[in-house]
Amino acid sequence: MKFLSTLTFLLLFIFVACSEGDLTPQQNTTPTTTNPTSSNDDNDDSDNTNTVTYSGTVAGILSSNCTGCHGATNPRAGLSLHTFATAKQATENGNVLSRIRDANNPMPQGGLMSQENIQAIVDWAEGGFNE
Ligand code: HEC
Repeated sequence: MKFLSTLTFLLLFIFVACSEGDLTPQQNTTPTTTNPTSSNDDNDDSDNTNTVTYSGTVAGILSSNCTGCHGATNPRAGLSLHTFATAKQATENGNVLSRIRDANNPMPQGGLMSQENIQAIVDWAEGGFNE
């Protein structure tokens, strides 16, 4: 009996050790196969939000956060963001996108906007500046 239970224990041990050995590579491969899927999901998400328009979203964000200083009269740094054309141009040349994400040199000067507002402008740019 002692021999049998020792044998059973040994067999169990080997079995457990083997299945652990089998599990480890599986756990390593699972994230690798999941990652492309999840980044595809991310792309899908941004495709959906690429329908952000200037009139629907961006104009409101800019007028609440920017046009007080970057409006029609006396625009700071000579930059006015109060029309579709000027906002598009300033975003297209990169300055707006870099400053609204630059925590060390933020626009608005008082501090970065909400992630939602920042993302809306990024999506607007990536979606091709819908009017
Ligand atoms: C309180 C006033 C104020 C507000 C609000 C403000 N800005 Fe500015 N902005 C400035 C001033 C002053 C400068 C010039 C100094 C500097 O670059 O930091 C500037 C510079 C910039 C520049 C760089 C222009 C260049 O030619 O280098 C960009 C881009 C910009 N702002 C975008 C924005 C955006 C987008 C918003 C809103 C999300 C915003 N700003 C809100 C005052 C403001």
